[in-house]
Amino acid sequence: MRSIPLRPGADLEGFRAAVRRLAAEECSPEAVTFTQGGAPGLFGPEPGLFGAEPGLFGAEAARASEEAGPAPPLALPRAVAALVPAIVPHRDEARYALLYQLIWRVRRGERHLPEVASDPLVHRLTRMRRAVARDLHKMHAFLRFRRVPGEGERERFAAWFEPDHHILEAAAPFFVARFPGFDWSILTPEGSAHWDGARLRFGPPERREALPAGDAFEAGWSAYYASTFNPARTNLAAMRAEMPKKYWRNLPEAAAIPDLVRNARRRVAAMIEREPAMPRKRTPTRALDAMAAQGPEDLEALNALIRRSEPLVPGATQAVLGEGPVGAAIAFVGEQPGDQEDRLGRPFVGPAGQLLTRAMEEAGLARGSCYLTNAVKHFKFEERGKRRIHQKPTAGEVAHGRWWLDRELGFVHPRLVVALGATAVLALTGKAIPITRARGPARFDGKPYAGFVTVHPSYLLRLPEEAKAEAYAGFVDDLRRVRMLAQDLAGAA
Ligand code: URA
Repeated sequence: MRSIPLRPGADLEGFRAAVRRLAAEECSPEAVTFTQGGAPGLFGPEPGLFGAEPGLFGAEAARASEEAGPAPPLALPRAVAALVPAIVPHRDEARYALLYQLIWRVRRGERHLPEVASDPLVHRLTRMRRAVARDLHKMHAFLRFRRVPGEGERERFAAWFEPDHHILEAAAPFFVARFPGFDWSILTPEGSAHWDGARLRFGPPERREALPAGDAFEAGWSAYYASTFNPARTNLAAMRAEMPKKYWRNLPEAAAIPDLVRNARRRVAAMIEREPAMPRKRTPTRALDAMAAQGPEDLEALNALIRRSEPLVPGATQAVLGEGPVGAAIAFVGEQPGDQEDRLGRPFVGPAGQLLTRAMEEAGLARGSCYLTNAVKHFKFEERGKRRIHQKPTAGEVAHGRWWLDRELGFVHPRLVVALGATAVLALTGKAIPITRARGPARFDGKPYAGFVTVHPSYLLRLPEEAKAEAYAGFVDDLRRVRMLAQDLAGAA
């Protein structure tokens, strides 16, 4: 029996090296065991920044695979190669053995095995993959930095988090991308991650008590949460599903929840008392006049009005209506139809739409089960020779379309609305907020649905070639979070 020692946690690199060697030797899954815990080495000998002793992680363990020299590269189908990093962080001790069984069977001719959902091995691995993805989502969403004493001029932040799986290494790059400009540390019971503005380092485990007390920065979180809390949407079950109690003790804003919930009824009554905020009529169009007179009763009636309306800027062939089932759990809001959409009369069918559809598929979202629409319903462009060049709608044009969009989403009644890009955020919130600040789960004040902000797919198309792959992966990652958030909301409903 071959015994492969892997370091504790998620030893992706060690596992990959072992698989290459085992495959080269045609070693069957029955003839190998993977052991963990005896071979540290990731964190190196540096002491913990917040007090943990370095001894635990001192010695470099000898790896069987390394001793024997590098193994030849191994080509695996993409689906299998992608599954390995998604499963390795799982806490189940059997994860490496299960993955190796999958790899073995795929190499023995079952090339499409990862797609056979009914296979017990695939079923188990799929559940593990989802558990890891969910844990990552929770860490991205619920980790809260607090300001801690720093060295010299530089500000320093730290956070405590207790993940269910070994996800620290997989989660850390997200925080590097989000907070590249300040020094931070993430402390967990299994290890720590430290960013100094240039380099990401991993260190030993820390204790919760090692985290210094919070300050005004943390108090700011509570204030922000209180200001975005919508009393009309108080749904404790949904709140607990998306933000399970386990995370509350590390969330500064959680302290505000009991009071906010207690006062919700009073605040809703006050909101009802206030006059409803109807949009001001800027340029009265035929459609707005008709709507004011008729008040559309359903989506069909609203669409009939939108179809009859005239674009604020002449030129578009037709109004492009939203598409997808009424009652869809997720609605996507883009900016405005593009050239292809204008010609075909359907949203998101041009290059950006195709990219969105592909990313949705990769994230496990069926386009047909989602609702897709735009902040502005007409294509605005400038003619250059034979080409029609997209022009961004002005804030006024977006405000003009808001009344329609609100009604439209009211009829579709999604649980979650995804804003694609800054124009969609403006349409949904009335505020110009940069995507870099708003990206991720969001609350659109006063709206009866949860929100999520991500980039517009056309932004990905405009990026330089070398930046595209990474940005696209981040987009797919966001859409995965959207899927999980919608599942959580459905589970809680
Ligand atoms: N971009 C959008 O925002 N919407 C579309 O329908 C197509 C491209």
